[in-house]
Amino acid sequence: MTNKILFIANWKMFGDLKSIKSIESVINISKKKRYRKAKIIYCPPFTLLNNFVIKTKKSTISIGAQNCHHEKDPGPFTGSISSSMIKKIGAEYVIVGHSENRSNGETNKQINDKIRNAITNNLNVIFCIGESLSDKKNKKTNSIISKQINLGLNKIEKIDKIIFAYEPVWSIGTGKVLKNQDLKKQILNIKNIIFKKFRKQKAKIIYGGSVNNKNINDLKQISQLDGFLIGGASQNSKKFIDIIKKTIN
Ligand code: 13P
Repeated sequence: MTNKILFIANWKMFGDLKSIKSIESVINISKKKRYRKAKIIYCPPFTLLNNFVIKTKKSTISIGAQNCHHEKDPGPFTGSISSSMIKKIGAEYVIVGHSENRSNGETNKQINDKIRNAITNNLNVIFCIGESLSDKKNKKTNSIISKQINLGLNKIEKIDKIIFAYEPVWSIGTGKVLKNQDLKKQILNIKNIIFKKFRKQKAKIIYGGSVNNKNINDLKQISQLDGFLIGGASQNSKKFIDIIKKTIN
């Protein structure tokens, strides 16, 4: 996997055929020498995966899916898509364990199955972890994250294909972000949890939750971060480029 600064665009349930044109400006900057330190990954909805793979073919941009089913294909799972299907269409990444799916009943066991299938199919995994507001208020952040990591990565020995995405649930789409010093502390806590389980292996950690072109100047100061997982602001190419430019410059 790459050692560049990761800018992962999670488009969630947004985007149609018309919106594909809007990423042309991002493709253009990805080709500039100045931004070669940036690794841009688009995670559009399933319906646009193929279009994004074709559109970004001659660039360094990679494509990821936003989820996958926990069972292997083929199988009688109406409306579901497996990691091998995602791989075959040309995507290289998959988001697993997003809080918007956890809150719909996705379990740690399913997350573990998804991750193991994804790795078997040679996909890189963007593994989302993070506490809810009530966890935070009850000072359970570290125990929740520890549980998510231990159960989500059960029977997994190598983490070279995993990107840990710390996304506090209360920060997603709310404009609320931890103060830099608190976020840094939290990232170090997570690194510690990972270190205990996967000694000596280097973990990649990114942050997600209300990242925008204003707070990026603060967030980029956290040297322990390997990049960002961006929702809302990534759907607007001007804002997304601004985030990339401010981080790299
Ligand atoms: P926002 O950037 O819109 O807060 O979303 C973050 C997120 O959930 C990315 O996965």
